[in-house]
Amino acid sequence: ESNALIDPFQRKIEYLRVSVTDRCNYRCGYCMPEQGVHPEGKHTEYLSFEELTRIIAAFTRLGVKKIRLTGGEPLVRKGLADFAHDLKQLPGLVDLALSTNAHFLDKHAAELAPSIDRVNISMDSLDANKFHHITRGGDLAKVMTGIDAALAHDIRPVKINMVVMKGTNDDEIETMVDFGIQKGVEVRFIETMPIGPAGVSMMDQHYAAEAILKRVKDHVGTDLIPSQSRSHDGPARNFKIAGTDAKIGVISAVSDHFCASCNRVRLTARGFLALCLGQEDGMDLRSPLRDGATDEELEALIVKAITMKPERHFFRENVHNIEFRQMVSLGG
Ligand code: GTP
Ligand code: 5AD
Ligand code: SF4
Repeated sequence: ESNALIDPFQRKIEYLRVSVTDRCNYRCGYCMPEQGVHPEGKHTEYLSFEELTRIIAAFTRLGVKKIRLTGGEPLVRKGLADFAHDLKQLPGLVDLALSTNAHFLDKHAAELAPSIDRVNISMDSLDANKFHHITRGGDLAKVMTGIDAALAHDIRPVKINMVVMKGTNDDEIETMVDFGIQKGVEVRFIETMPIGPAGVSMMDQHYAAEAILKRVKDHVGTDLIPSQSRSHDGPARNFKIAGTDAKIGVISAVSDHFCASCNRVRLTARGFLALCLGQEDGMDLRSPLRDGATDEELEALIVKAITMKPERHFFRENVHNIEFRQMVSLGG
């Protein structure tokens, strides 16, 4: 099995996260500036689906096995299901996943189901008012309908991402565990990262993954059994709740960074290849693409970019560098 994408720290890059748009119908404070994406690009600044497909195809030829479509909110971009259908045909791709706020999932689940293998849904609260507040206008009922639609169309597993913010939603950890068990969805608790509009100030709301795990364990009253991850899996540490079929996960991006096993890079909607979530390093692929690069030339550029992947982020040591990064453009 070949993989041309091995970085200087011997990490094999098998996972590409693709942000298809930096727009979103919600405005979560940690992700989206209040006034929306700033500055919003002109139409031509964004890659067409054909252009995205060409770049993604190059990645799969180089050994990438997993593609995740993110945003902004990917479902605000018209034609996403047809795009997903085209991607699904790429040889070598084993996992095509979607990260969404689920607001429009009910509407699109049927057309997505043949190509999207599974879906991760951002849902930070089970209280409609609080949810409305966190998302600056979101509708929890729509999200619930979206979750049900994904399950009904067998887009599984469904994972729920909850960004845990001290003083905002940390009182809902137990409720969220119960929801996961009852619905048959996997809940992942995410440490708030100091990226995006809220930047460093988010660190005040930081809630450590170990403390979350302890609360989950106390709540369920049984053991949490660590489960094995596959080479193309994301950064979550996953656990089975002993005596049940339920699974939970934690993403400890700040307290215990997982950079040593990082297997992923990101492509933005404007065609920038971002090599690390917490560092500026990357390469513009849009210009060479539009200047007529051949497939071989594109592959060579990607191989070269991977040799520049930084070793790790410095969220705790060096937070002032990243507070102006826009999470919404990077897709999480
Ligand atoms: P699975 O493939 O289901 O494991 O999903 P995933 O965790 O890879 O993707 P998802 O879009 O659900 O992201 C969950 C959280 O993990 C988000 O808060 C992401 O920002 C975060 N995350 C994903 N990759 C990285 C990474 O390389 N570094 C950091 N610091 N956080 C990441
Ligand atoms: N810290 C942690 N997670 C974040 N996400 C967006 N911004 C942040 C942040 N600052 C999450 C979203 C979504 C995923 C793709 O990234 O909640 O679930
Ligand atoms: Fe939209 Fe997701 Fe960002 Fe919230 S976290 S504003 S739902 S892109």
